[in-house]
Amino acid sequence: MNLNVVILAAGQGKRMHSNLPKVLHPVAGKALVRHVIDTARTLQPAGLCIVYGYGGDVVRAALPDADLGWALQEPQLGTGHAVQQALPHLGSSGVTLVLYGDVPLTQPETLQRLLHAARDGLAVLTVELTDPTGYGRIVRDAAGRVVRIVEQKDASSDERAIREVNTGIMAIPTERLAGWLAGLSNNNAQGEYYLTDVIAAAVAEGVPVAAVQPQAEWEVLGVNSKVQLAELERIQQRRIAQQLLEAGVRLADPARIDVRGDLSCGRDVAIDVNCVFEGRVELAEAVEIGPHCVLKNVRVAAGARIAAFCHLEDAVVGPDCIVGPYARLRPGAELGPEVHIGNFVEIKNSTIAAQSKANHLAYVGDARVGERVNIGAGTITCNYDGANKHLTVIEDDAFIGSDTQLVAPVTVGRGATLGAGTTLTKDAPPDTLTVSRAKQVSLAAWQRPVKKPKK
Ligand code: UD1
Ligand code: CA
Repeated sequence: MNLNVVILAAGQGKRMHSNLPKVLHPVAGKALVRHVIDTARTLQPAGLCIVYGYGGDVVRAALPDADLGWALQEPQLGTGHAVQQALPHLGSSGVTLVLYGDVPLTQPETLQRLLHAARDGLAVLTVELTDPTGYGRIVRDAAGRVVRIVEQKDASSDERAIREVNTGIMAIPTERLAGWLAGLSNNNAQGEYYLTDVIAAAVAEGVPVAAVQPQAEWEVLGVNSKVQLAELERIQQRRIAQQLLEAGVRLADPARIDVRGDLSCGRDVAIDVNCVFEGRVELAEAVEIGPHCVLKNVRVAAGARIAAFCHLEDAVVGPDCIVGPYARLRPGAELGPEVHIGNFVEIKNSTIAAQSKANHLAYVGDARVGERVNIGAGTITCNYDGANKHLTVIEDDAFIGSDTQLVAPVTVGRGATLGAGTTLTKDAPPDTLTVSRAKQVSLAAWQRPVKKPKK
């Protein structure tokens, strides 16, 4: 089937009270309209066209996909007028599927059923609501056939009592669409060209109209306000949590996890409460994530444990590592197998090889650290001279005493020991103790100052 998808996204979304165009607000870390595009793509359409208007440049810049068609709607004269702007992108045969850029969670399976129902006519996605206020109502004849849609503002009190509403999502035979749209009038309560009026036009021409329902109501919920945005966020997070649980992930509380991107988990992964996963996060088999961790674009290898309150971004954690509590892995941090990174340790753009440890209070930046290295508490790589960043190399089996500064560029040789408090400005030779420290003195004559008595 020759399928074209039109995504309506010209509306301003006044009730969002935001400078950001409505369709760019995120649900689960992804713009509303991006959800719609991703879902549309699963249907393998021949063309995908976005009708845009308010905040147009920002919307276009946020969606750089080369294959999207763009139709500017200015001014915005209603949903029928909006689809009309997309006509030049649609060709002349097959089916046109109309989606809303602010209805993010419609499932591919539902749209497939809608398209199937449209194979010999027009199909509209409808839903029964306990409170249908504000929506267009589906008017059926005595035989139960859909005859037209009436908007709330144009409806009689009998029609307002109808609880079956238009979700806005429709599949329309493309060869008929242009004619029907050309026939629309704006002689209605809102002075708009209603897409919904194509239903009556189809019925008048004897084209069958089918109504299809989604599996769940949340599939057709739209976003008009921050309240609705927050509601959809919770719905989507609950669904993600459910999928993780069904795949065997142990979640301490499915209501207290936020996945803003793609999280993939191996067997026997356990995630404690209040963790946030952003971007692409991969947790291999038996990884444990403690409470209150933030992981963004991170790979964690099998058996590794991230303790409470860690922040990891653009980092790789090797197998059986122990990280945290209170550790920070910044972009470019790569830990080999069985590395231990403890509290208040920050690692940036550095590789730490197998079994090395930095267990307390350290900054390791722009460093290459070998295997079985011990980095003492208070160690700092002085990687930045105010203009440039420099490399620190710490070779295998080195021991860095506490409170050491490594003024880069500098190399600590294999098996070298640095005494506590060393400020290393020249390379430390292998298998040798290097220490830079003022000689200790004790002044017997010294008197501790005393406070002057108050007058
Ligand atoms: C529309 C339907 C109504 C349905 C409801 C579901 C019509 C006439 N009414 O009403 O039957 O129950 O959606 O939410 O179609 N848009 C444009 N350009 C425009 C107007 C709207 O792109 O000129 C876009 C909006 O950005 C939005 C969508 O179309 O994504 C729906 O617009 P909205 O104003 O929310 O339609 P409703 O009046 O709620
Ligand atoms: Ca709406």
